[in-house]
Amino acid sequence: MDDIHVVVLAAGKGTRMKSQVPKVLHRISGLSLIERVLLTADPLAPASITLVVGHEADQIKTALARSVVQRPLQFVTQEQQLGTGHALLQARQVLEGKSGVVLLLSGDVPLLTSNTLRSLIDTHLQSQAAATVVTAEMTRPFGYGRIVRTSGRIARIVEERDASPAQRKITEINSGIYAFELAPLFAALDSIGTANNQGEYYLPDLVGIYRKQKRTVATWTVERAEEIRGINSRTELAEVSAMVRQQRNEELMAAGVTLIDPATTYVDSDVVVGADTVIHPCVFLEGSTRIGAACEIHSGARIVNSTIGDRVCVRNHTVVTDSTVGDGVFLGPFAHIRPGSQVGDDAHVGNFVELKKTSLGKGAKANHLAYLGDATVGTATNVGAGTITCNYDGETKHQTVIGDGVFVGSNSTLVAPVTLGDGAYIAAGSAVTKDVPAGALGIGRARQENKEGWREKRRNKA
Ligand code: UD1
Ligand code: CA
Repeated sequence: MDDIHVVVLAAGKGTRMKSQVPKVLHRISGLSLIERVLLTADPLAPASITLVVGHEADQIKTALARSVVQRPLQFVTQEQQLGTGHALLQARQVLEGKSGVVLLLSGDVPLLTSNTLRSLIDTHLQSQAAATVVTAEMTRPFGYGRIVRTSGRIARIVEERDASPAQRKITEINSGIYAFELAPLFAALDSIGTANNQGEYYLPDLVGIYRKQKRTVATWTVERAEEIRGINSRTELAEVSAMVRQQRNEELMAAGVTLIDPATTYVDSDVVVGADTVIHPCVFLEGSTRIGAACEIHSGARIVNSTIGDRVCVRNHTVVTDSTVGDGVFLGPFAHIRPGSQVGDDAHVGNFVELKKTSLGKGAKANHLAYLGDATVGTATNVGAGTITCNYDGETKHQTVIGDGVFVGSNSTLVAPVTLGDGAYIAAGSAVTKDVPAGALGIGRARQENKEGWREKRRNKA
């Protein structure tokens, strides 16, 4: 099999996005457009991947520094965006002298499937074409380049702005995705001119040039035209996002997950959800999140890069980030599990409880209004309402260590660093500044004094 050299065009500004962020870095379900394109090409095991960047090139390089694919990426810069033909020319330094097929992809066409790319390469090799164009039938072809055929064969491509009224009626459009035989490519690109409405070097002009040179140009038409949708505006970004979400939700339901309302369920592409889990409306599962089986995730929950066990109940408006939650846990409503936390099996974290870099042991409970930061809480320990770990002294963070089977009375402040031994008992309202030994009662509060008849005496004075 011939080597496949992938080139992705991503130098354009994306003017219609009206954004400081380059178009190809805008995201759909957790992955940028360019990451989606790279992931689609990856199964073809390309010999090289070249990205043509220009506008905000550094932002793109930084964003892809930890690439989603395991292959090296080469970057070439198109200083001025003089058109798609000019953009591909920038890859000459990397590809000239090599042999095989150039698979040309567009950084803003994220729905393309690997199967389509395979079909494109197969068609291209079988027809021994110099170029093969992916086309689609569109009922509303406005804005796309049109495929002009003579005697059934592709003759050239005309852009919307350069098309005659008759050509504008053509419904077969250019996807902007192509396979090229490498050998004649760069010489032919040199002969592309700028005699068009935009004064740009149009890559699609290569089709006409090759046909004049009597070289074979083939086409491959996608079955579902949605696949080649390009993103040029925020509206298109939203429309394509909805399509990606719908497809992901259908996969989840096919795998045994109940979605009460798929239209308002937002599950990123890499998220895994176990069977018999029920997801209520307006739930966000993001990044590398893993949800176990038979969980119930209620409305308004947002879970980011976290692992949730089986049979977990996440009640409304709970936020979990970069944390691990065991089996049979209850979270929320309104719980906030911040990065670096571990919640043990069967633990309960109730309303308005915030954890940060804190681990709760098996069966531990913090049911109401608490802040536990930089803390370790043992097995079956009960943290009373209003408990606060004072983990920060204004300069550094300190640890609170709470043993197994501890009872922390309501409204206690635990001034870190401090350790409560196994089975310790903290009186409600204590300010705990010293370690409490195992099994001991810790009381850190002023003794209550009652003044008999005080009310009466005050009234008499007045
Ligand atoms: C292009 C095609 C059109 C096709 C459509 C499909 C041309 C002239 N037209 O139009 O036939 O129907 O795609 O979506 O090719 N880019 C660069 N450098 C440049 C110009 C563009 O890297 O100088 C990149 C853009 O960042 C983008 C891609 O090339 O990723 C396509 O460019 P764009 O301007 O979006 O082309 P369209 O007008 O959509
Ligand atoms: Ca485009």
